[in-house]
Amino acid sequence: MECGSWGTLGAQTVDAKDAKKDAAEAAPAPMIDLSKLKTEKFTRLKTGIGEVDRVLGGGLVPGSLVLLSGEPGIGKSTIVAQIADQIGCLGQAVYASGEESGSQIKERLERLGCEIKNFSFITETNTEKIISATKKDKPKLLVIDSIQTVYSSLVPSEAGGINQIRASAVKFLELAKGENIAVILIGHITKDGQVAGPKSLEHIVDTVIYLETESAHNYKILRATKNRFGAINELGIFEMTGRGFKEIKNPAAVFLDSSQQKISGSIISSIMEGTRPFLVEIQALVTKTVFGYPQRKSSGFDLNRLQVLTAVLTKRANVNLTNQDVILNIVGGLKASDPALDLAVCLAITSSLLNQIIDRKTLVLGEVGLGGEVRNVSRLEQRLKEAEKLGFREAIIPDAEVKAGKLKLKKVKNLSEVVKGF
Ligand code: TYD
Ligand code: MG
Repeated sequence: MECGSWGTLGAQTVDAKDAKKDAAEAAPAPMIDLSKLKTEKFTRLKTGIGEVDRVLGGGLVPGSLVLLSGEPGIGKSTIVAQIADQIGCLGQAVYASGEESGSQIKERLERLGCEIKNFSFITETNTEKIISATKKDKPKLLVIDSIQTVYSSLVPSEAGGINQIRASAVKFLELAKGENIAVILIGHITKDGQVAGPKSLEHIVDTVIYLETESAHNYKILRATKNRFGAINELGIFEMTGRGFKEIKNPAAVFLDSSQQKISGSIISSIMEGTRPFLVEIQALVTKTVFGYPQRKSSGFDLNRLQVLTAVLTKRANVNLTNQDVILNIVGGLKASDPALDLAVCLAITSSLLNQIIDRKTLVLGEVGLGGEVRNVSRLEQRLKEAEKLGFREAIIPDAEVKAGKLKLKKVKNLSEVVKGF
C-alpha cells in the first residue's frame, strides 16, 4: 500500500519486555472526584468581529489552540490580522510568519487600519525559538502563519511534512495550556478540500475553523467544524473589501432582493445553510405556449423537480398548465435543493398564472408529495423565528406542531387547499 506522500513514515520501537514490566509495576493513576473539582471560569477574548465571535462560540478562549484552514489566497492572513488587532488591544499579539516578510505584514496591517504597536512580529520558522520568544513576551494571542512553514528541531524531517506539522502543533498546544495564551494556527488546504497535513491536526487542536468562498455572491464564509468550547456548524458571513473583511450584519436576508416591488409570481421561502436559515425569493413566469410543446425552464432549481411539481399542480390542484410555458428563477443566482421550497415554487407558478400578488411579508414553506400533500420540513420553528425577526407577518406552513411567536400561521395539509385560497 502507498500513501503517496513524503515524510509520513516514522520509526516506532516497541520493547515488548519493557511494556510488560510497565504494565505490572505501574503506580495507579489517581482517581479524581469530579464533584469536588473546581471548574475554571474563563473569560473569552472578544475579537470585536461579531461573526467571528459567533463561530468561536462567543469569543476566543484563552489557552485554546485554534486551527484556521482555507485555500491559499482566500484571506486567512487578513482575517487573522483583524482578529489579532482587536485582541492586541487587550494585551499583546505576537504574529509569527514564515510566509511573508515584516514589511509585507506591516503593509497589510496598515491597509487594514490596525494598531501596529499592539503587534510583535517574529520572522522565524523554528518552533522552539518562536515558543521561547512568546514566553518572554507574554501576549494574549500567538498567530502562526502558517503551520506548514514551521519546523521543530526535535524532528529530523523537513518543514511541511506530516511529522513536523504534528510535532510543532503539540508544542504549541503545550504553550497554549501552560501559559494560558490563545494560539491560532493557519493551515493551507489544497483545491480539492484536503487539509494537507492540517487534517491530521484536527484531533490535537481545540477548535477547527474553515474559511470558504460562496460562489454566487463572492461572500466569504467562516465555519467551525470542531469546537471544544461551543457549537459547531455555525456560519459567519463576510464581504472582502479594500479594507479587509466586513461582516454582513443581516445574513438571513443576504440572498433576498432589496427592492420591495410587488409582482405576481414572486414568493419568499427559506433554505437551511448549516444551522442557519436564509431567506430566498422564488420567481415564476407563466405564459401561454405559442407553438409546440409547453416549455419548462429553471435557473437555480432542479428542472426535474419543477416538472414533477407542475404535474402535481395540474393533477391534484386543478391548475391547468398543459398549454403554459413555465420559467422559474431563484433570485440572486443561488442554487438551492431544499425540499422545503416545493410549496413556494407551486405558489409562485399559481400566482403568476392567475396574476395574483402574494404579500412579500408572507413566508411559504413545505415539501409537496406526488399526492399533492404538503409535508413537514426540517427546522421549521427556527426558520419561522428568523423570518419573524426580519419583519415577516404571516407564514403558510405544513400542518405540524410548532410554536408560532407573533407570526400568523396558516397550516395546510394539501396543495389544493392553498390554491383555493387565491
Ligand atoms: P490573504 O489574507 O493574504 O490570503 P491567505 O492568507 O489566505 O493566503 O489575502 C488574500 C487576498 O485578499 C489577496 O489577494 C488580497 C485580498 N485583500 C483584499 O481584497 N483586501 C484587503 O484588505 C486585504 C488585506 C487583502
Ligand atoms: Mg497568508
